[in-house]
Amino acid sequence: MYFIAPSILSADFSRLAEAVKMAEAGGADMVHLDVMDGHFVPSITFGHQLVAALREKTILPLNVHLMVDNPREMIPLFLEAGADWLSFHLETSRHVHKDLQTIKEAGRKAGLALNPATPLALLSEVLEELDFVVVMTVNPGWGGQKFIPATRGKIRSLSQWIKEKELATLIAVDGGVKLDNLAELFSLGMNIAICGSSVYNDPEPVEVIKKMKAVARDFSHRISENK
Ligand code: DX5
Ligand code: ZN
Repeated sequence: MYFIAPSILSADFSRLAEAVKMAEAGGADMVHLDVMDGHFVPSITFGHQLVAALREKTILPLNVHLMVDNPREMIPLFLEAGADWLSFHLETSRHVHKDLQTIKEAGRKAGLALNPATPLALLSEVLEELDFVVVMTVNPGWGGQKFIPATRGKIRSLSQWIKEKELATLIAVDGGVKLDNLAELFSLGMNIAICGSSVYNDPEPVEVIKKMKAVARDFSHRISENK
């Protein structure tokens, strides 16, 4: 499974419904929404009310990424708002299994996000519980940053680990993902490409998403031919 998830963080914040429509028009698989609280990361973006408002505007699944200090209190609000995929940071949760369980009990996809410097080994007791892992390939907080090269090995190792354990956990990659590195990241093990500035800073976001979908399709054909 190979998905393209445009992140509206780099879109025009006065026209977010249009940004979501562009994702639909390009054939995106889901929309990525970055919630920042001004504590875990310095910026503040938006909360559950905006997610609920965008829920009304699209049929695409909403993939919500919580960059907040207190996921335990926030998770129910975002479930209520209609998040289909919901991730929080491993670095912020004191009771990881419990918080994941809250998401899963609501029938939504539960994910954990890891900062670039957080070792994969910290997932050892919880990997089997995860529908997806968000591997941060930039430090969270801003769009448009450079992909951190050292995270390539992390994506590859996580992918091998998931295969060895025969799990269905998907790998989302967040930060510096663009048309140029998409095929390489898929080959390292990425399943969900989260793309912010590479989509919405382009004058033609719909066309970029279409091209990204074509790369994902080619990759998935190549994989199935090699099987
Ligand atoms: C960063 C966010 C990302 C952001 C990625 O903290 O989690 O989702 O939108 O932006 P780009 O694709 O521009 O690196
Ligand atoms: Zn994100």
